[in-house]
Amino acid sequence: MDPRTLKIKAAAEALTYVKDGMRLGIGTGSTAEEFVRLLAEKVAAGLDVIGVPTSERTAALCQELGVKLTTLEETPVLDLTIDGADEIGPELALIKGGGGALLREKIVAAASAQMVVIADESKNVDTLGRFPLPIEVNRFGLAATTIAIEKAASDLDLSGSITLRMTGGEAFVTDGGHLILDASFGRIPDTRALSSALHAIPGVVEHGLFLGLARVAILAGADGIRTRTQ
Ligand code: A5P
Repeated sequence: MDPRTLKIKAAAEALTYVKDGMRLGIGTGSTAEEFVRLLAEKVAAGLDVIGVPTSERTAALCQELGVKLTTLEETPVLDLTIDGADEIGPELALIKGGGGALLREKIVAAASAQMVVIADESKNVDTLGRFPLPIEVNRFGLAATTIAIEKAASDLDLSGSITLRMTGGEAFVTDGGHLILDASFGRIPDTRALSSALHAIPGVVEHGLFLGLARVAILAGADGIRTRTQ
């Protein structure tokens, strides 16, 4: 089955969690975009929901397709966030940020009573870290922050390249105006320790380890849909 079909299947299953009147967090990425398309069909058929988008890209798609939007300022408590992930590990720990939206994604997920992750089965892993960990950093002090991240990783016996994310020959800039470092540490056995160590670095704005946020993961594979819960 082609990857897009799997994403659509996971997104369709996620729609069963959406109820009339809900305040939704709406994720970013190709899988979340499939969800937005299906959600827009339901909205056109009469479903009444309002969404907080996790990126400008998602906001634009929602506007184009007629999904009503609000902001987290106007609507600071959400019922449900639906989002994709780059990896889904034990206890539904996630790596996110492949699309560069990790900061808003994490803020929105944390403001939601429930987070449902949608992905194809290939994103499900035994240990997080095959996918490089996105780390959003302030532009100021980039070199010093990179050294501090290397030191923090080394203290946890992690090492690997840390590269500045680029796009079209320029540094990739997030919706919040920050930069992204992609850290190829390989397997991350202790995600909580790495999360704490990264949060202790002043130049780190946020990182792509989502721990204790997702309650449900909907995984679409060739054999059908599998739901993991936490
Ligand atoms: C966006 O910043 C990411 O967190 C995405 O949710 C993640 O990269 C998954 O994207 P895809 O659905 O495109 O794989």
